[in-house]
Amino acid sequence: MPLNAELVDTQLTTTFVGRRMRCLPSASSTQDVARAEAEGGAPEGTVVLAEEQTAGRGRLGRSWVSPAGTNLYLTIVMRPDVERLRSLSMVAPLAVAEAVEETAGLSPRIKWPNDVLIGGRKLAGVLIETELSGQAVRYSLVGIGLNVNLDVERAPEIADIATSLKRETGHEMSREAVLASLLNRFEALYIVAQQGSAVHEAWRSRLETLGRQVRARFGQQVEEGLAEDVDAEGSLILRRPDGSRVTVAAGDVTLR
Ligand code: BTN
Repeated sequence: MPLNAELVDTQLTTTFVGRRMRCLPSASSTQDVARAEAEGGAPEGTVVLAEEQTAGRGRLGRSWVSPAGTNLYLTIVMRPDVERLRSLSMVAPLAVAEAVEETAGLSPRIKWPNDVLIGGRKLAGVLIETELSGQAVRYSLVGIGLNVNLDVERAPEIADIATSLKRETGHEMSREAVLASLLNRFEALYIVAQQGSAVHEAWRSRLETLGRQVRARFGQQVEEGLAEDVDAEGSLILRRPDGSRVTVAAGDVTLR
């Protein structure tokens, strides 16, 4: 069944996030549709959602498996001040984790910077693409893919590493309820993130990366060491085997 946007709307408590929503039967990537929306002046909080993606994108040039009708694939158009830009990378996975807690009673963890995991398997991913004009943010496209009712074993390319809410709870979930909760949490956390460190602390406390030996890849560089902490900006602080420290602003980690 296609997602019922009206049902989502009745459950929204937001003032701007999700108040304008485009639901498409299919898209190459919701990021591309949202980019056109943003270029056309779409208001902050506009959501583009697709039932399926034919070229869903992940971070670092990966693809995102996006079969029809089972999951959530959405992009939220945001226009943050440049000082608040990096908080989106904490707000988005935290909103997913809190929505999953609220609707499914599960307690997801976060793999730095913004993968959402249950039992070490990936439940959701976040891709943020930002367009700048000089030092100013023109818009930020916050893409979220969340496996809701995916039968993971039917997706062989991710069967070993992914999970879904259906797999974890043993039953189908209402995509409308999960989406409404996600958008409600996203707006609330985005507003809180502008006022202090509470979001950083909540995000940090869900990080399963801290205290673990990791391999971090960023650009062409690879560093191995102990994931000691994250700084206020969300960068990962690694302790190398020789005792020196390195700060990783963006990239990907493998837990060792
Ligand atoms: C990752 O974990 O690598 C990020 C995955 C992000 C996937 C979402 S699905 C909606 C939006 N459209 C895309 O093409 N990608 C993001």
